[in-house]
Amino acid sequence: MIKLAPSMLSADFAKLAESIAEVEKAGADYLHIDVMDGHFVPNMSFGAPVIKKIRPHSNMVFDTHLMISEPHKYIKDFAECGSDIITFHIECESNTKETLDLIKSYGKKAGLSLNPKTPLEDILPYKDDIDLLLIMSVQAGFGGQSYMSEVNEKIKRAREIFGPDFDISVDGGVYLKNLAEPVSSGANVIVAGTAVFGAENPAEATKSFKSFSL
Ligand code: DX5
Ligand code: ZN
Repeated sequence: MIKLAPSMLSADFAKLAESIAEVEKAGADYLHIDVMDGHFVPNMSFGAPVIKKIRPHSNMVFDTHLMISEPHKYIKDFAECGSDIITFHIECESNTKETLDLIKSYGKKAGLSLNPKTPLEDILPYKDDIDLLLIMSVQAGFGGQSYMSEVNEKIKRAREIFGPDFDISVDGGVYLKNLAEPVSSGANVIVAGTAVFGAENPAEATKSFKSFSL
């Protein structure tokens, strides 16, 4: 069964706790939390204070996706606000190994993400240092973009390299109608924003994702 990680970016920020509780009750596994700085990506979202406020309202795994330029400067903040997994981009300006170690020094799981054009080879030197691989199926920065099917090959290769039990997450443009693409390629953690929080009934959407099988 896949793990579903609804992306908070598409949630109703006026009733965040309620919206999150709704998908959690329906069976969502991780809450995917998109942090954008207007520099690494041309868009801004929210930061650690918001995560801290929602933490007491949810038992889901908080899967924080940092789309920021210098993540090493903010790992402490994102650890202490209640993230369980902290993922940053291989393309950013940080020492990758040091930043991964910093995340783990706070007792958190560490993830690496790569944009569609970044080759899988770039993350392989850190294969044994990460707990999660986040493969972007859109260019990071905005919700609501279209799934790039060319990443399916990258997902397949990652699954071969990382083996059957590793968390390989896919992020961007995933809907029920194309869910078979990342899942059959080997992704087991599915991030979905528009398709879950943007749905008319997010709880029903969550259940449909969770009951999906190939
Ligand atoms: C994109 C973000 C995604 C995004 C997913 O930069 O990392 O997590 O919110 O949203 P959808 O599912 O709408 O593409
Ligand atoms: Zn994301």
